[in-house]
Amino acid sequence: MYRILNFLVIVSVINADVLPKSVLLNDGRRIPIISYGTLGKTQDLDLIKPAVIQAIESGYRQIDTAAAYENEEQVGEAIADVISRGIVTREELWITTKLNLEVGTREGVLPALQASLKKLKLDYVDLYLIHSPENLVLVQEYDYLNVWKGVEDVRRLNLTRSIGVSNFNITDINRVLANSEMVPSVNEVEVNPTYTNSEIIAHCQSLNITILSYAPFGFMVPRPIDYNVTSTFKDPVLVRIAQKYGKTTSQVVLRYLIDRKTIPIPRSTNTERIKLNIDLFDFRLSQEDISSINELNKDVKVYNFDQEALAILFDYYGL
Ligand SMILES: NC(=O)c1ccc[n+]([C@@H]2O[C@H](COP(=O)([O-])OP(=O)(O)OC[C@H]3O[C@@H](n4cnc5c(N)ncnc54)[C@H](OP(=O)(O)O)[C@@H]3O)[C@@H](O)[C@H]2O)c1
Repeated sequence: MYRILNFLVIVSVINADVLPKSVLLNDGRRIPIISYGTLGKTQDLDLIKPAVIQAIESGYRQIDTAAAYENEEQVGEAIADVISRGIVTREELWITTKLNLEVGTREGVLPALQASLKKLKLDYVDLYLIHSPENLVLVQEYDYLNVWKGVEDVRRLNLTRSIGVSNFNITDINRVLANSEMVPSVNEVEVNPTYTNSEIIAHCQSLNITILSYAPFGFMVPRPIDYNVTSTFKDPVLVRIAQKYGKTTSQVVLRYLIDRKTIPIPRSTNTERIKLNIDLFDFRLSQEDISSINELNKDVKVYNFDQEALAILFDYYGL
């Protein structure tokens, strides 16, 4: 009996250790499975540096920022701090940023990335994304295919190690694939229990394009527009699964995104929740658990990019 118990303990410890913490991209590089999100209100900009430092000290190795978040300087200060204190090396970090929304041409990409690198105090980023296929801020000239050629240029210059897109739908992805030399390694899109986004995920995964899942907590947390969607961390489906594994429902949501073979990007500036959101590698969901959570889908996005919603979002974040 004692030997059987001992064996079971050893097996569960091994299981916890073997759950992978990185994923192989189609360009041969390994990307950390959890990304730390940094989009916040500009009036709370002073929270970013200490939060990013705490995230890295808690074990996050990927940081997600964007020119549009207006926080690359604070993120850069945090990175410089942890590297100077020997917490991590530059090579151990994965820094993702996104092209300025005002760039709509091939020629605009290099100076935009150089500006981001200067703010981040880095020689290169690990992943550079086109933020949106749409001309969100209504610049005079905008074609994401031309912009993608500029992204390929900066990849050739080694100013970014990997390249990808964000908010691209199936048509956008196919258009890039049919007209470009390089394949995007990732597509960063919204995924959460009330927006399961299954079609684009299936399409990208069939092409070996990795999905980064933003807004992982959907409408379970306060949002600038609620679209009348009710979603809660106390949902009985999530509570039942959380009790089964001895985890919180927020951890079940993040693990659900990992077990759908995507990389979640949770954001928190709260000490306890920063730690909670990366404590995910000692359990995994069954296919049945995943299917039950998929049933919570309401097909409603938190982040809509039509001009009316965008104005509310920009106002909320002070951008
Ligand atoms: N590519 C794009 O177009 C795009 C669009 C949107 C977002 N993103 C990226 O994705 C990241 C995440 O999206 P997001 O910021 O909307 O969302 P999120 O992580 O879904 O939600 C953040 C909110 O959840 C709360 N929270 C975090 N952990 C929690 C927990 N364990 N329990 C309860 N509440 C918790 C946070 O509050 P506390 O701080 O108080 O914990 C915060 O209010 C962004 O920061 C950004 O990097 C990308």
